[in-house]
Amino acid sequence: MLKQLVPCFALMLVCLADEMRLKVKPVSKPVRLFTDEELRRYDGSEDGEPIYMAVKGVVFDVTSGKNFYGKSASYNALVGKDSTRAVAKMSLNPEDLTHDTTGLTKEELESLDRIFSETYKSKYPIVGYTHRRILNEDGSPNEDFKPEDQPHFNIRNEL
Ligand code: HEM
Repeated sequence: MLKQLVPCFALMLVCLADEMRLKVKPVSKPVRLFTDEELRRYDGSEDGEPIYMAVKGVVFDVTSGKNFYGKSASYNALVGKDSTRAVAKMSLNPEDLTHDTTGLTKEELESLDRIFSETYKSKYPIVGYTHRRILNEDGSPNEDFKPEDQPHFNIRNEL
């Protein structure tokens, strides 16, 4: 009798394990903290690799905009780095390819915020934040850091 029950019990365990596996919510890819060096790896120079670009310290996956940002495309200079200043000034001058917003005019800062929300946040997924946004200069955590809200962006899952 016991011998006959063993396969039954084993089958029950398999079914139970299967059901539990189905109930576990898939965890989406966690967002990352990027150093300048890490961000540089995603500059579109290698075919098939993701392309990342930061604006205001938020790192976006702009791979779907490959026609703009890929190797030899018009805006390739903006990727693999934080190009906040270039976006604010609509400039591709090498000196503007930086996170630094020092001395930008009110209009440029407004334009930056508009492009940040209407183009980058609405079009591209967030994959992380630059160290400048998450950490203070001495390496301590930036207490004011708040993850950007985005459709499909679940803070509990992501951070
Ligand atoms: C005469 C100068 C320019 C013209 C005519 C022009 C025109 C355009 C056009 C037609 C698009 C495509 C829009 C779309 O299909 O969604 C575009 C996208 C874009 N432009 Fe320009 N552009 C110029 C200069 C610049 C400069 C100097 C920058 C420097 C930052 C810039 C940054 C961008 C970016 C980042 C995008 C892509 C945005 C995205 O990811 O959707 N553009 N531009």
